[in-house]
Amino acid sequence: TRTQVAIIGAGPSGLLLGALLHKAGIDAVIVERQSGDYVLGRIRAGVLEQVTMDLMDEIGVGARMHKEGLVHGGFDMLFQGQRHRIDMNRLTGGKNVMVYGQTEVTRDLMDARKQAGLTTIYEAANVAIHDFGAGKPRVTFEKDGKSHELQCDFIAGCDGFHGVCRDTVKKSAFASAIREYEKVYNFGWLGVLSDTPPVHHELIYVNSERGFALCSQRSNTRSRYYLQVPLTDKVEQWSDQAFWDELKLRLDPEAREHLVTGPSIEKSIAPLRSFVTEPLRFGRLFLSGDAGHIVPPTGAKGLNLAATDVKYLSAALIEFYQDKSEAGIDHYSERCLKRIWRAERFSWWFTTLMHRFPENGEIGQKLQEAELDYIVHSETGARSVAENYVGLPLDFGT
Ligand code: FAD
Ligand code: DHB
Repeated sequence: TRTQVAIIGAGPSGLLLGALLHKAGIDAVIVERQSGDYVLGRIRAGVLEQVTMDLMDEIGVGARMHKEGLVHGGFDMLFQGQRHRIDMNRLTGGKNVMVYGQTEVTRDLMDARKQAGLTTIYEAANVAIHDFGAGKPRVTFEKDGKSHELQCDFIAGCDGFHGVCRDTVKKSAFASAIREYEKVYNFGWLGVLSDTPPVHHELIYVNSERGFALCSQRSNTRSRYYLQVPLTDKVEQWSDQAFWDELKLRLDPEAREHLVTGPSIEKSIAPLRSFVTEPLRFGRLFLSGDAGHIVPPTGAKGLNLAATDVKYLSAALIEFYQDKSEAGIDHYSERCLKRIWRAERFSWWFTTLMHRFPENGEIGQKLQEAELDYIVHSETGARSVAENYVGLPLDFGT
């Protein structure tokens, strides 16, 4: 079989790209290693920036998001026992974020894809990409024990951090052209999802003596909480009771009082990493989303960056097919990387500000406290956090 764009991975970036290309009349097939249910079962991001909301609207799948999503105009920062609200809406001249889970984004995109009769090949085994250096790229995979080949003009590597595309580049003629920048943090986030009302109507980012905590939510009846834990911790060590007890110890008295606990419906530990691949284009292969970069989760930039990558990629491919111009695909990498590094900087900074780093000593602790104090008491400091949190404008710096 043949298609114009072969998309590897049916996570948010692959599905969004498929939808954007379809809207422009460009043919694409998505090849995904897992089943649709498996993809939906992964509990990940929860906060959408305006650019991501706009993208959902642009492709016509925004209705449920607007109906069920929660618009947030601010969040709290809790440190030294005190809560301080960052009024994002006021500080950014009216911008907000939307609390709407990645699971829901994925579900809406999967449903739209099904309705439009577009092809997603789930449970494809041994997916491999070939010949992207030349003009005739190919994707091979196995499905139900049979081998398949997909010929295409371009390959979009939307296959996440552990995908096959970036790995293949490293073993190809492009090996010397790829550069990876990486920082691994020595703690992780233990996350719990529960059908309990959120402790507060907005998110609370907590820097406590016992480590970072985050009180987030998915709806008015579903909460998502995270705790900073050592990387050596295993999720099995954490009973629900132990999780709630530890969370309470990291909260202020008022939040502790209001916290409603209940059985967890998901519990997992995610490591934290800053990671960027340069460049993001290798001949006729493009990397988008987590396949090309990872941010530590503090500040919720991961999914939103994936969305802007594919927005840029779809624009570039549309230029290629409609205007016969390679300018867009030539600029794809540079354009994405500018925005990626800005989000990497913010996510690294916000992670550094909110977590405990005993290895930085007492002076590290004092400097962190001084920075927190500055942020919440300076209009300029607070505005800098707010501006980044809601997402920098697409034309930032131009
Ligand atoms: P993915 O969602 O990873 O999708 C990639 C897809 O490719 C997957 O479906 C995978 O099965 C498929 N795939 C992989 N290999 C192959 C292959 N060889 N062949 C075919 N298909 C393949 N971001 C936030 O903003 N807030 C959060 O709280 C948050 N929490 C997170 C928690 C975890 C545990 C993780 C891993 C990420 C989290 N993120 C969070 C980041 C956010 O979820 C990602 O940035 C987002 O999922 C990126 O989307 P993507 O489509 O690029 O990658
Ligand atoms: C969520 C995750 C984040 O990393 C964040 O900064 C805010 C919310 C969440 O999963 O709800």
